[in-house]
Amino acid sequence: MRRYLIAGNWKMNTTRQSGVALASELAAAAAKEEAGVEVLACPPYPYLLPVGEKLAGSAVRLGAQDAYFEAPGAFTGEIAVEMVKDCGCQYVILGHSERRHVMGETDATINRKVRAVISGGLTAVLCVGELLSERQAGQTEAVLDRQMDGGYSGISESEAASIVIAYEPVWAIGTGVTATPEQAESAHEHLRKWLARRYNAAFSEKVRILYGGSVKADNAESLLGQPNVDGALVGGASLKAATFVPIIEAARKLAAGG
Ligand code: 13P
Repeated sequence: MRRYLIAGNWKMNTTRQSGVALASELAAAAAKEEAGVEVLACPPYPYLLPVGEKLAGSAVRLGAQDAYFEAPGAFTGEIAVEMVKDCGCQYVILGHSERRHVMGETDATINRKVRAVISGGLTAVLCVGELLSERQAGQTEAVLDRQMDGGYSGISESEAASIVIAYEPVWAIGTGVTATPEQAESAHEHLRKWLARRYNAAFSEKVRILYGGSVKADNAESLLGQPNVDGALVGGASLKAATFVPIIEAARKLAAGG
């Protein structure tokens, strides 16, 4: 059984005050470790420490939204993996579509970041997903294969155990348009087959594949109920406990057997 991971990507949102308040509510909602569900919050860099302080003692993990691949040094404006680790992060989101398509990150850059995060002892949440035009052109699986080939380049099976995948179709991010459970399942199944080919079938069964893109309380259960959907990477709905906690609850219900 794969443990559900319900992750909040706060993106470039919240203030110190609102982020800390949200963290307090999340810590209360996920106070104790649960066998079936893991919860993760990824605030903006400047709020990692105060948010982490509020999460301390709860079961909510802390994650960063990116990290640079170089060791500390002369890289103005960048943040090293060991810095986010020092702030208490266990996870780092990498290759998010906004970094790929707004900041122009390539698969090669993302691969360097994935390797740096793993060698720093953290878990990478590697995001992949196609544009609407690519889906309409029937290229979804080819795009996913390219992003997986790039992201996992040079990574051994034991290193790959520190990667969680997030399938985030770009057309579903922040649009209110969600992939249907069938569309999500089909992409997730494709990603798991890629893992089985690249590594082996037993390993592919252990990897968690999250879905992201307009996940809300009212669609969470149908998405998370798919056999290859092992969690959610939530943007907008992660910014308020009232909209995020019901997604955690949907996972709890499914983990408990529906
Ligand atoms: P939304 O949930 O706002 O669509 O964002 C999804 C996302 O990009 C999470 O990383």
